[in-house]
Amino acid sequence: MIKDFVLQAYQKMAQRYHELIDIKPHNAYYDRPNTLTLLPEVAGKVILDAACGPGKYAEILMVKGATVIGFDISPNMVTLARERNPTQGEFFVHDLSESLDKVADASCDIVLCALALHYIEDWTHTIQEFYRVLKPKGAVVISIEHPFNDFNFFQSTAYFQTENVQCVWKGFGQPIEVHSYRRPLQACLSPFTENGFYIDTLLEPKPTQEFAVADPKHFKELNDFPAFMCFRAVKRA
Ligand SMILES: C[S@@+](CC[C@H](N)C(=O)[O-])C[C@H]1O[C@@H](n2cnc3c(N)ncnc32)[C@H](O)[C@@H]1O
Repeated sequence: MIKDFVLQAYQKMAQRYHELIDIKPHNAYYDRPNTLTLLPEVAGKVILDAACGPGKYAEILMVKGATVIGFDISPNMVTLARERNPTQGEFFVHDLSESLDKVADASCDIVLCALALHYIEDWTHTIQEFYRVLKPKGAVVISIEHPFNDFNFFQSTAYFQTENVQCVWKGFGQPIEVHSYRRPLQACLSPFTENGFYIDTLLEPKPTQEFAVADPKHFKELNDFPAFMCFRAVKRA
C-alpha cells in the first residue's frame, strides 16, 4: 500500500531530515518563509501541526507564543519533534487519513499542514476533521507540491486523474523512493470549498535570496516555475 511506502520512506529519512531541516533550501528558503506568511498572528493561538515532521514549524510557532499540538504518521519523526521541542508542545503518532480523536471540536485557531497532503489519496475526511477541530473563522494553511509542476515532473498524460507517482530523493542520505499522489488543481481546492471553507489566499512561492547562495541552479528554476503551492482556507462562520 502507498501509505506503507510513505511511512517507511519517512522512517528511514527522519534523522537526516531532522539534521537538515534548518538549512535545506527547499524547506528553509522556499516552503517555510512563504507558508509562514499565510499564518495569522499566532501568539496565544492553538495550532494543530498536521504532519509535523521533526517539529521545525512547531519550534518556530512556539517561539512566537503559540501552543502547538503535532501529529505525524512516522514514529521517528514524532520522537525527533519531541527532542527538538523538549519543554513545549505535544506530539503524537497519527495517520491524518484517520479521525483526530484526541482533538476536541472547535478547539484550534489554526491548522497547518506543510508538504504532506500529497501523501494522502482522498482528502475528504482529513479536511472534514480540520473543519471539526477549528473554531469558527479558523484557518487551514497548506503547502503542497504544485500540481502543474507535478504534471510536468512525472510526465503525466492524464491531467484530470489522481495518480500514484514515485521518484527517488537523494538529498537525505541514502537514496529513498518516495511515493505520493499527483492530482489536478481543482482536486487540490475543492475538498476545502466543498467542506465548509473558502480559499482566501493562494501563493505560488518564490525562493528567498538565501536560496540563491545555497543552490543557484534551483533558485533559477524556482524563479521560472513553481515547485510548491501554498494557500489558506478559512472556516465559514
Ligand atoms: C515533507 S515532510 C514535512 C514535514 C513538516 N510538515 C515540515 O514541513 O517540516 C512530510 C511529512 O508528512 C508525514 N506524513 C506523510 N503521510 C502522512 C499521513 N498520512 N499522516 C500523517 N503524517 C503523514 C511524513 O511522515 C513527514 O513527516
